[in-house]
Amino acid sequence: MHSYEGKTDRAEERDMKELLTKDGYSAIVIDHWLNPRNFRRLENYDGYSQRITSPCGDAMWIWLKVNDNLIQNAAYVSDICIGAVSSGSMLTEMVKGKRITEALRISPDDILRALGGLPEHFVHCAALANTALKEAIRDYNAYKDAPWKRLYQQKC
Ligand code: FES
Repeated sequence: MHSYEGKTDRAEERDMKELLTKDGYSAIVIDHWLNPRNFRRLENYDGYSQRITSPCGDAMWIWLKVNDNLIQNAAYVSDICIGAVSSGSMLTEMVKGKRITEALRISPDDILRALGGLPEHFVHCAALANTALKEAIRDYNAYKDAPWKRLYQQKC
């Protein structure tokens, strides 16, 4: 196992890619880790996961922008773990343009397949992302018929 701390510039990024490849991470995981998609909060969201925590203690939050059951945008924030960052990045890309019913059918295995796998000790990171997505969808469904109620929720 290698340490990836403090590797930030381009030359070091190349070194990091080599180390990660040697440690068995797929090229897709490495790309999403170094260039995470949708790693931010969404304003004016329609579904929000609150803080979802993995058994390891790392957390993730997911925001969804949904129009008539169609996911138009998705974003996430997580603790800085390669499995969580790559899973959240891949999952938020996967759900854009999907209907809520399709997004509900996504499983942790689907995320792992799309990433080209994760080492065994990071497999639970995909489950964390999946749980956060399902919670954001639950939140969307709870408020979709009365979105004004969300204003009260946010003030509590
Ligand atoms: Fe636990 Fe990634 S979420 S190590």
